[in-house]
Amino acid sequence: MKIEDVKNVCVVGAGNMGHQISLQCALSGYKVICTDVIPAVLEKAEKFVDSYLAGRVQKGKLTEEVAKTTRANISFTGDLKVAAGNADVVIEAVLERIDLKRKIFADLDKIAPAKAILASNSSFIVSSRIASATNRPSQVCNLHFFNPALVMKLVEVVQGPHVSDETAQCMMAFCLKIDKVPILIKKEVDGFVLNRIFSVISKEALWMLEMGVASAEDIDKACVYGAGHPMGPFRLNDLTGIDLTYDICMSHFYESGNPADLPSPSVVKKYTEGKFGQKTGEGWYSYKK
Ligand SMILES: NC(=O)c1ccc[n+]([C@@H]2O[C@H](COP(=O)([O-])OP(=O)(O)OC[C@H]3O[C@@H](n4cnc5c(N)ncnc54)[C@H](O)[C@@H]3O)[C@@H](O)[C@H]2O)c1
Repeated sequence: MKIEDVKNVCVVGAGNMGHQISLQCALSGYKVICTDVIPAVLEKAEKFVDSYLAGRVQKGKLTEEVAKTTRANISFTGDLKVAAGNADVVIEAVLERIDLKRKIFADLDKIAPAKAILASNSSFIVSSRIASATNRPSQVCNLHFFNPALVMKLVEVVQGPHVSDETAQCMMAFCLKIDKVPILIKKEVDGFVLNRIFSVISKEALWMLEMGVASAEDIDKACVYGAGHPMGPFRLNDLTGIDLTYDICMSHFYESGNPADLPSPSVVKKYTEGKFGQKTGEGWYSYKK
């Protein structure tokens, strides 16, 4: 696939990441169809798009015309066949579970045109583990956006050994087209570049919290006021989702069998209490007011 041939984008999963990735692509002129298995999630995503565009127009950041074109560029459906049937690029953003991702990629391989690139927004799962579920491994790669996807500029393009140069270059060019700053990661490593760095910070932060060294608020303050981070690891975790952290740790544990990979006790507690962060109104902080 060459960048000039990319016109239609499909985003699978309309959750935290998927709806914003869809909107970012639509804002840049691509025709986007976003799909999810939960109708309420699709409704919420559609409402977000409407209110986001209206808000940008009101603030003078977008013209009415651009907002109208963007709105016309994006549609939502519960039907994967409709969403991916004519796609040039598919971006998968479903839950961080390898079996689910492999099943979706196997389905996409049957549904999407043979030339289409199938990319995963997974935070940790390298695409070679998903590509083998398809008959087009050279067109399957990681395309890792950051949260919130409309705001964060970085996208990691991961060229595993099975990924063709053409696919990697097309994805790098695609990121530039959608106004992002791509980096090319030339080796598959779990977590890619930035999450590897952040996982060290998060692990230390959790350890200090659990040892009673300092509160979550104070650890966050240390990172914000001492290291210049825009937010600390606990506030960030509330944004990205404590459920996602739990899933990632559990998949590492299932693969390694190493108890050190299990989620830390305080993460397990929040997870069992359903306190996933902003999305549930409470995580390390409360968002109920
Ligand atoms: N949350 C973050 O900060 C973040 C950042 C970068 C990457 N990611 C990655 O993006 C992916 C999605 O994360 P998220 O936070 O958006 O999760 P989320 O839970 O907010 O959304 C996932 C969505 O996938 C949908 N889904 C499940 N099965 C599906 C199927 N068969 N077909 C279509 N949709 C299906 C769910 O209904 C849900 O709406 C994960 O792989 C995660 O690792 C997340």
